[in-house]
Amino acid sequence: MTPHSTEKLQKVLARAGLGSRRKMETWIQEKRVTVNRNTATLGDRVSLTDDIRVDGRKISLSALQPPPRQVLCYHKPIGEVCTRNDPEGRKTIFKQLPPPKQGRWISVGRLDLNTGGLLLLTTDGELAHRLMHPSYTIEREYAVRILGKVDEDMLKRLHDGVQLDDGMARFKHILNAGGRGANHWYHVMLSEGRKHEVRRLWESQGVTVSRLMRIRFGPILLPQSLRRGHHVELDKKALQTLLQLVNLNEPRQTNPVPRTSKQSPFKGRKKG
Ligand code: URA
Repeated sequence: MTPHSTEKLQKVLARAGLGSRRKMETWIQEKRVTVNRNTATLGDRVSLTDDIRVDGRKISLSALQPPPRQVLCYHKPIGEVCTRNDPEGRKTIFKQLPPPKQGRWISVGRLDLNTGGLLLLTTDGELAHRLMHPSYTIEREYAVRILGKVDEDMLKRLHDGVQLDDGMARFKHILNAGGRGANHWYHVMLSEGRKHEVRRLWESQGVTVSRLMRIRFGPILLPQSLRRGHHVELDKKALQTLLQLVNLNEPRQTNPVPRTSKQSPFKGRKKG
């Protein structure tokens, strides 16, 4: 949120730690909230320059600000799911991550249970949304081990486009990464992230994917030194490159006034 962009009032109040969005909607309906001294109504949008009060008490600017934008590279091992809670009780990626400074981790797309490699996670919902959105055509690169005979015609079809259940799909580039017999690897690049897309493309040609690993997402490479199950936070330069890719380069506070969950969102009140 920049000083002049707007967000829904209940979202901003919830982020300030006053309660759930639903609870904030109730408070608005109960006329407990004012914006610039006027009683707020559901649907109001606010910016950081507005004077927002609950029961007459002003909410501080630091409480209204969005959480610091963090981005993590996680080396997902095979066997972990990308959902927050798995009804089957399988290991989830979220249990392996450090707590964010504020907010929660949102994964930038998903990798299948039996796919490993680079997964980006961020605390910024808008950034996650844009990175996943097909309109930004962000390139993903996978290393894939193929079982079965691959010939030139097959590679041409995979490059030209193949009809899948959910429409045409193709690899932008296919590189032969070498190997023999059951240990033959390719690097493939695509500009979208449809479900099981890499596997479905290869399987449409009658061969089997026996290993799949994402090694790059846009400009971010899976660091060679990053062991499976480990993470590293993107440095400022890499983060900037990623933001520019999705036109999110407006200045945003990266080092906000630290505020713990115990601090009051109200202006001028002491902690506790
Ligand atoms: N394509 C797949 O088939 N699986 C993944 O996990 C990612 C891309």
